[in-house]
Amino acid sequence: MEKGYPRKVALKGGAQVVLRPLEGGDEEALHRFFSGLPPEATEFLRDDVRDRQTIARWVQERDPSRIWVLLALDEARAIVGNASLHVGRGWRRHVGEVRVVVSPALQRHRLASALVHELVNQASVRSLKKLEAQILDVQEGAHRVFERFGFREEARLRGHALDLHNKPHDLLVLTSTVDDLWKKMEDLIEDLDFVPAH
Ligand SMILES: CC(C)(COP(=O)(O)OP(=O)(O)OC[C@H]1O[C@@H](n2cnc3c(N)ncnc32)[C@H](O)[C@@H]1OP(=O)(O)O)[C@@H](O)C(=O)NCCC(=O)NCCS
Repeated sequence: MEKGYPRKVALKGGAQVVLRPLEGGDEEALHRFFSGLPPEATEFLRDDVRDRQTIARWVQERDPSRIWVLLALDEARAIVGNASLHVGRGWRRHVGEVRVVVSPALQRHRLASALVHELVNQASVRSLKKLEAQILDVQEGAHRVFERFGFREEARLRGHALDLHNKPHDLLVLTSTVDDLWKKMEDLIEDLDFVPAH
């Protein structure tokens, strides 16, 4: 297990989760997490997360140096949150992309804040300078969440994305520097209690 993990977090409202990186053998729990999400949470995500083979590939071909995946597990060890940092290559080698999904039952408890805080920390350890989040025009809730984290809309690519039903959408690229995000995220997780878990 990577240094610093697993980590236990008491969320806003008191629920406790354990954060740890993705491991071999997580396929089934991850499939259960994504297939338990409502359609409105999954239909605008980039990949078809309901597809068992897609999930199996993520786990089996995982390469934390390129895509670092952090999971949140509840007391029954079910996955309740998934976040990932995608490290750029070539001329984007100082840029990372963040993605995050939280189970509806735990939304508004600052779980995404805790997960993205850890991604920003990881980005800093890897000397990344800038982070981006890509969302579709219809993901208004996610847009507000990322703005709350400190991201700003930097580009809108018109009709650049097709959802799972082949409907075109504008793709929004939200960005921030790692330094600015770090300050914002520290404020957001101020009331959460992070402790080592064994
Ligand atoms: C976006 C998402 C990850 C947010 O998860 P979350 O754990 O509920 O977020 P947090 O509790 O950390 O929210 C942090 C702050 O963002 C704001 N916020 C959260 N959800 C919001 C919403 N639906 N609308 C407006 N603001 C919102 C609030 O200010 C919140 O803090 P507060 O509730 O203490 O005031 C979750 O809604 C989700 O999984 N959506 C579906 C997947 C998705 O769209 N992912 C983004 C694409 S990468």
